[in-house]
Amino acid sequence: MKNIILTAMLLLLATTMNAMEKKLIRISTDRTDLVLQVAENGRLYQSYLGEKLLHVSDLEALSWDVYAATDGSVSQRGWEVYSGSGNEDFFEPAVAITHNDGNPSTWLYYVSSTQQLVPGGMQTDITLRDDQYPVEVILHYVAYAKENVIKTWSEIRHQEKKPIQLSTYASTMLYFCRNAYYLTEFSGDWAKEAQMSSQQLQPGKKILDTKLGSRAAMHMQPFFMVGLDQPASERQGEVLMGTLGWTGNFRTTFEVDNVGNLRIIPAINPYASVYSLQPNDAFTTPEFIFTLSTEGAGQGSRNLHEWARRYQLKDGMEDRMTLLNNWENTYFNFDQAKLEDLMKEAKELGVDLFLLDDGWFGNKHPRNDDHAGLGDWEVNHQKLPGGIQALTKAAKEAGVKFGIWIEPEMVNPKSELFERHPDWAIHYPNRKTYYYRNQLVLDLSNPEVQDYVYGVVDKLLTENPEIAYFKWDCNSPITNIYSPYLKEQQGQLYIDHVRGVYNVMRRVKENHPDIPMMLCSGGGGRCDYEALKYFTEFWCSDNTDPVERLYIQWGFSHFFPTKAMCAHVTSWNKNASVKFRTDVASMCKLGFDIGLKEMSADELNYCRQAVTNWKRLKPAILEGTQYRLISPYESNHMAVNYVSASQDKAVLFAYDIHPRYQEKLVPVKLQGLDADKMYKVEEINLMPGTKSHLKEHGKIFSGDYLMKIGLNIFGTRSMQSRVVELTVQP
Ligand code: DGJ
Repeated sequence: MKNIILTAMLLLLATTMNAMEKKLIRISTDRTDLVLQVAENGRLYQSYLGEKLLHVSDLEALSWDVYAATDGSVSQRGWEVYSGSGNEDFFEPAVAITHNDGNPSTWLYYVSSTQQLVPGGMQTDITLRDDQYPVEVILHYVAYAKENVIKTWSEIRHQEKKPIQLSTYASTMLYFCRNAYYLTEFSGDWAKEAQMSSQQLQPGKKILDTKLGSRAAMHMQPFFMVGLDQPASERQGEVLMGTLGWTGNFRTTFEVDNVGNLRIIPAINPYASVYSLQPNDAFTTPEFIFTLSTEGAGQGSRNLHEWARRYQLKDGMEDRMTLLNNWENTYFNFDQAKLEDLMKEAKELGVDLFLLDDGWFGNKHPRNDDHAGLGDWEVNHQKLPGGIQALTKAAKEAGVKFGIWIEPEMVNPKSELFERHPDWAIHYPNRKTYYYRNQLVLDLSNPEVQDYVYGVVDKLLTENPEIAYFKWDCNSPITNIYSPYLKEQQGQLYIDHVRGVYNVMRRVKENHPDIPMMLCSGGGGRCDYEALKYFTEFWCSDNTDPVERLYIQWGFSHFFPTKAMCAHVTSWNKNASVKFRTDVASMCKLGFDIGLKEMSADELNYCRQAVTNWKRLKPAILEGTQYRLISPYESNHMAVNYVSASQDKAVLFAYDIHPRYQEKLVPVKLQGLDADKMYKVEEINLMPGTKSHLKEHGKIFSGDYLMKIGLNIFGTRSMQSRVVELTVQP
């Protein structure tokens, strides 16, 4: 007993000394400072988040009690970095715990902190501890200096005798004191993803959240922008851009308090999820990733693109493949011969890969529509008697690679898997089951089910080493939220399920590291930065109408680099020309999902040329820097340009959506070029037999001219597009 008291006293002494010694913790990129301060009371407060401070001496002047009442008096309340429940702060906390004795309060005191270099950045780990309960929180931050991105997450642990109950568990908390805050959200629905809208935040709370279980998005994307003092704009002004890496229910709270300060709390959504945390286990929150740009959203996006390619996205610095998908070509109705024809068409188009979509599996319950077969990952012998081997062989003969679609986290009640293991599906034991797309979600909180799902992928890849690509789909949110496996711990299902999904994805990546994978979720429902550690790219939307895609791609481009965003040329909106459809898909990772027989000879030749052009321009489109020039939200047009790292090559994509009669058109100024270099301007992606009408076509201009005067790129006819290649002249 004496020893325990002595250890406790020494610990307290060490804590106090550490706190006294380390009053300031500076988390910095080249452009941003986040300064945390240990106050006299031993607790940790945010004293600054903003543009990088030039003088270290200024840090001393910062104060932890930033909060001031309207009469100017200063309160005891500060901006506590990980504010607990039941303290003197009357606003939303980061963490809420019910302890073994029923006490619902948590007060966290600074213990220690360390900093170490990690790939691309500096990691800061800060330990906080409750003074009355053996509960510890470790705050983690990684600051990526060059990219100006900070990633932060937290870990909660305890040594109470029995489990503690967590009812709030934020990734972090950030505070701002400004005159006004303008939130831009990216909401929508199936086939209407990432639609942007903005509003000024008023006192009280605004919450962005979803409760879809198996994916973050559909109705609301897990990313946002906050314009500080003014609405977020593209080229100027201070804007915070943040996103949570969590493939499940999320909740980001924006709360403007009584004195007009804003706190932002990104978190897993605690909806139906009071989490019972065992002693000594760690509850690790998702990563929240943010950048604070002082030069508008355009720069913020470029920060995130660069960071993602270097440090987060699977194979972020590697190449990407163009492809032909059969989904909209055939839906479920295909056989070996039809697919072989499509493989030849893929070759004719000049793309790298043929991608076989849904419908290739299930025998007792064949997958001939979306009512049956999910779970039975054996080739349907009637459709494909030669199995996958015959397909990979045919692809090889056609001269393209072979990729395949899977949806391994799901099960149709009409499947052998469900007949064998009804208890593996998430569904109520005592209510009528309701379905989304006639299927159920497998219970990935169950390790046995994780093994099964991993086994599906592993078996396919081991038996068919020629599979060169996966499209991994997830078409249903979690319905009937009940896990036969978790029994009385149902509060853990939403969270442990997502962790189980990651466990599977991690194993796939570890054991099959070289396979590129597209993340898909009935369109763009899954595109968070945690899942993207395991996936090279994602499907933005099932809506491939090029006009709608301009808005959808514009939205996603705020957070994701081009090489992560898949766009396919399809038959949606036949009023739009094949050229317009292809030019819209070409501003992302290009693919096709259209029968070549639908095209005229000229259209096919056009597409072949567009693929060749796109491949040549990859250093700018995929690896370069993106500049959003003209917003479809603010005009009847859209334009974006990409510049290669060497600034020797650039591409401009310009689209007329539905211009008005006699609309005034002004030249579009490019960005990111070298002002002193001379660029040849050439319109490419022209339909065979047509000439460029671009005034500047074939001429040479300085980067300065192109950025200050610009190109007359827009026209007045609906759904027209122009692609311009700019090449530095020796
Ligand atoms: C939804 C996806 O978004 C589509 O591209 C397609 O793969 C279907 N699922 C297949 O069922």
